[in-house]
Amino acid sequence: MDSPKASPTFEQLFQGQPVILAPMEDVSDEVFRRLCREHGAGLCVTEFVNAEGLLRGCKTAKRKITLGAEDTPTAIQIYGSDPERLAEAASVAEAANPAFIDINCGCWVPKIAGRGAGAGWLRNPAAMVAMAKLIVGTVKLPVTVKTRIGYGPESEMPIVELAKRLEDVGVRVLTIHCRTAQMGHSGNADWSYAAKAKAQLKIPVIVNGDIKTAEDAKRALDETGCDGVMIGRAAIDHPWVFDECRDLLDRGVVRPAPSFDERFDLCRDHLIANVGARGEPYGVRVTRRHLTGYLRGLPGAASIRKRLLFSDSLAECLQILEEERTRLAAAAA
Ligand SMILES: Cc1cc2nc3c(=O)[nH]c(=O)nc-3n(C[C@H](O)[C@H](O)[C@H](O)COP(=O)(O)O)c2cc1C
Repeated sequence: MDSPKASPTFEQLFQGQPVILAPMEDVSDEVFRRLCREHGAGLCVTEFVNAEGLLRGCKTAKRKITLGAEDTPTAIQIYGSDPERLAEAASVAEAANPAFIDINCGCWVPKIAGRGAGAGWLRNPAAMVAMAKLIVGTVKLPVTVKTRIGYGPESEMPIVELAKRLEDVGVRVLTIHCRTAQMGHSGNADWSYAAKAKAQLKIPVIVNGDIKTAEDAKRALDETGCDGVMIGRAAIDHPWVFDECRDLLDRGVVRPAPSFDERFDLCRDHLIANVGARGEPYGVRVTRRHLTGYLRGLPGAASIRKRLLFSDSLAECLQILEEERTRLAAAAA
């Protein structure tokens, strides 16, 4: 009889150059985490969860921290601007049994960063370090931080010095999105800051920002010496990126692009799983943002997507997919 697979220890999660699914609001939910894990993601992080929402017991926050038995290893990410409330929320999140607790110090959105949460912490590095120390001292699980290189437009980016101070208070892993908060998602990520931070630290550093392909992942790791990569937007269109990274990083192999059937299968599976989790029509609607990428490269992809856009019904979408699959198979025969 097979013995149950032991869960990896926290240290093991960061060995072997993990390729991690980034926390993304309204994207990195339980369904998408499962799909990415099935396609090679070694570790996932939940969407960020508002500390106040968690403490009030709000429904959305509760849903976001609920981890199914198979949803592992997954970390829960929390955000907020009040250190004591964040520490309390970290305890609530800890009870949900995640792999670790991640603190969001990188969200640039004005209604969050402007109120001192997310990347707002970068405007007061001393307060950020004190907050991290408080949370490390409150929970038993490892605590990690995801942040940016600075708020912008500092002449010297604070991340390098800040990274050391976070390590000194017990933060166990640092993920660096290599942009300033003011850059939002624009401009290019500058991985050299991840390299500078990594050179100072003993704890694992994860490089994030503009890693779109397996080649990017390899280059980011080679250029920075970081311990792993985190991938966000590229996974929305192409969850196969995780397997592609693993093949290249572990075996030096360039994985062939997904076949037409794999593309149709993923559209179908994601639609079915989202409708199972959220019902119709919402489950269909939230899947749409993925479909352009999933269908990319198929002959007639734009018209398939257009047909799918006009339907909120799962049965209709599945029928469209099967019709289009049959049409392509006939054309190829
Ligand atoms: C739709 C969307 C939602 C995001 N939500 C979060 C979030 O909840 N927490 C977080 O730390 N970062 C969030 N981010 C930022 C990503 O985790 C990541 O740092 C950023 O997209 C850069 O990585 P990429 O170039 O691989 O996309 C979000 C990004 C996107 C595109």
